[in-house]
Amino acid sequence: MIDELRTERLLLRPLTLDDADAYFGVYGDPRTWEHLPSGRHPSRDVSERAIRSAIDARLAHGFSHNAVIAREPVGLLPAGAFLGSAGAKMLDFDAWNLGYRFAPAAWGHGFATEAAAASLEAAQTTRPSTPVTARVLAENEASIRVLERVGLQLIWRGRSTSEPDGVEGSTTHLERLIFADCRLDDHTLDAVIALG
Ligand SMILES: CC(C)(COP(=O)(O)OP(=O)(O)OC[C@H]1O[C@@H](n2cnc3c(N)ncnc32)[C@H](O)[C@@H]1OP(=O)(O)O)[C@@H](O)C(=O)NCCC(=O)NCCS
Repeated sequence: MIDELRTERLLLRPLTLDDADAYFGVYGDPRTWEHLPSGRHPSRDVSERAIRSAIDARLAHGFSHNAVIAREPVGLLPAGAFLGSAGAKMLDFDAWNLGYRFAPAAWGHGFATEAAAASLEAAQTTRPSTPVTARVLAENEASIRVLERVGLQLIWRGRSTSEPDGVEGSTTHLERLIFADCRLDDHTLDAVIALG
């Protein structure tokens, strides 16, 4: 079980329920969902549930999503500021899903790249035989760049056909890119595509 990760400028430590306000500040902010507005957390309760889920996942799988904390002041952000979250979620099948979301005030400093690289390494160390995957909307250039920068390979680009277009709230039809740290077998790739 990984307790915390330190990078040059960041501390990644397990999320706790005390983070709920700060976490909702990021996940409830429409600017952090520009490419997927329906994903925004509509209430603090939803954020709290997401944190509980990360806590449970860490206990079950040894690693999950972490709070990302600034170790030094950056612009208007003081040392100790909650910048966002980053980590890897164990999917229902044997694959990690790498993810991150940061407060707009923290964008443009290379923090996502730094946190994603540490999270990728932690997921690989925790379960060396489990592939690390990542899904990103084709329009999300910044996130695509992060995945490229941490060394993941683009393995698929397209639209999932697992649900018919037009289902209310469905986002599976949006064009996505899938990245991974190794070749995926057909079953795993199909399962990742079906997630949308
Ligand atoms: C995507 C996100 C995490 C990037 O965070 P960040 O800390 O600004 O990223 P970095 O500073 O590490 O930049 C990564 C790269 O993206 C580039 N980039 C940053 N913003 C960009 C933008 N709006 N358009 C194109 N490229 C951009 C940077 O120049 C950098 O590339 P480089 O290394 O070649 O210079 C952040 O914008 C965010 O939280 N967005 C909302 C949530 C989200 O989209 N999460 C990912 C879901 S798949």
